[in-house]
Amino acid sequence: MGFIIAIDGPAAAGKGTLSRTIADTYGFQHLDTGLTYRATAKALLDLGLPLDDEAVAEKTALAIDLAGLDRSVLARHEIGEAASKIAVMPAVRRALVEAQRAFSRRDPGTVLDGRDIGTVVCPDAAVKLYVTASPEVRARRRYDEIIGNGGTADLAAIFEDVKTRDERDMGRADSPLKPAVDAHLLDTSEMSIEAAFQAAKTIIDAALNRN
Ligand code: CDP
Repeated sequence: MGFIIAIDGPAAAGKGTLSRTIADTYGFQHLDTGLTYRATAKALLDLGLPLDDEAVAEKTALAIDLAGLDRSVLARHEIGEAASKIAVMPAVRRALVEAQRAFSRRDPGTVLDGRDIGTVVCPDAAVKLYVTASPEVRARRRYDEIIGNGGTADLAAIFEDVKTRDERDMGRADSPLKPAVDAHLLDTSEMSIEAAFQAAKTIIDAALNRN
């Protein structure tokens, strides 16, 4: 088993960019676990299947291929919403967590980002980071991202979405979003991506030296 880095945090906290940069820097494989929930949701939506039938959603989750995950086809807002709805189902989580754990054991090391990596998926990870930022900053980042991609967006509506998603992710009974007791907290509200990466790198290098 390789060196596992677990990165958790709420929507639009900057986990994605940070995780990819860390994986590239250390030559580790990266899994954005949100995509496994999104791919399950998209498969249900595409087939016109219900989002509230746990057995159907579990079967769909069991068929997800980690190799085929692509954020560009899973980015739609509607898919993110549906993902957070099916993510409350224990059978769906069991199916996806098993695939995520198998991925985490790859050599020479892996970076997994999501909501429950340090608490449930990889409780023995060598490094755990909990990346957060205020809801205002996260809404602004998501807004800038959409505008930057040539889209249109409403900042107030995005802010409401961020808060609704936080409540759903933090309030669910199975694997709620929360920092692991041994996670390093990284509040990026007033940090650039580069500064957040440097802070993470210091923590990771210290753990690698201990290993
Ligand atoms: O929209 P954003 O990129 O922040 O979210 P995502 O990482 O794509 O995840 C979409 C949804 O999947 C989240 O709102 C969570 O409800 C769920 N999820 C989860 O429950 N556990 C994970 N490890 C990752 C995502």
